[in-house]
Amino acid sequence: MVKVSPSMLSANFSKFGEEIERVERSGADWIHLDVMDGMFVPNITIGAPIIKAVRKNSELPFDVHLMIEDPIRYIDDFTKAGADILTVHTEAKGDIMGAIDKIHENGLKAGISLNPGTPVSDITIYLNKVDLVLVMTVQPGFGGQSFREEGIPKIEFLRRYADENGLRYDISVDGGINRNTGKRCADAGATVLAAGSYLFKMDDMSPEIELWHGF
Ligand code: DX5
Ligand code: ZN
Repeated sequence: MVKVSPSMLSANFSKFGEEIERVERSGADWIHLDVMDGMFVPNITIGAPIIKAVRKNSELPFDVHLMIEDPIRYIDDFTKAGADILTVHTEAKGDIMGAIDKIHENGLKAGISLNPGTPVSDITIYLNKVDLVLVMTVQPGFGGQSFREEGIPKIEFLRRYADENGLRYDISVDGGINRNTGKRCADAGATVLAAGSYLFKMDDMSPEIELWHGF
C-alpha cells in the first residue's frame, strides 16, 4: 500500500496541534514536517521546539524533512523532539554521511533527499544505508509549486536499483503532488506520497487519502 505523508507546511499554523490531529483522523500514515533554515533554502519554517510541542498530538511517525545546512549539528535536537524519520539533503553543506550515521546511532530512520536539478548518481553512495529516499519534484523552499517531471525517471531508477540490490528503502516524492502526479509517481515506484497544498485545500482529505492508498 502506498503511504501518504501530508506536509504540514500547508496547515493552519495558528492551530498546528489540532491540524496534526485532523491529519491523523483523515487516515494519513506519516506526518511530513518541513524544517527550513533560511540558508539551505530562502524560507524559514519550524524547528525542533515546535515539533516537540506537537509530538503529543499524534502517534503517527513524524517524517521530518531537514532543508538545512550542516544538518549533523541538529540531529540530537530533532531526536529529542520526537522525530521518527530524519531526512537530510545531499546538497547541504557538511558531513552528510556522518549525519546519516548519527541519525541511525540515535535509533531513528534516516533519509536522503535530492533536489530536482541533482542527478540521482549523486546519492548512490547513500543507498545501501538509508531507510528512505525523498525525491524532490519542486525546488525546496515553498509549498504550492508545480510538479517537475525530472522526478519520474529518478523514481524509476531508485525502484530498479533497490530491486537489483536487495534494498528496502522507501521512495518518497515531495512537491506538486496531486491525484494525477501522485498516481504517476506510484506507478513509477514511489511508496510514499508527501503532499501539502493539494490535500490541505480540502475540508476533508480522508477520501483522497483512501484513494491514494490504492494507487
Ligand atoms: C517544499 C516542501 C514540501 C512542500 C510540498 O520545500 O519540502 O514538503 O510542503 O508542498 P506542495 O505539496 O504544496 O508542493
Ligand atoms: Zn518536504
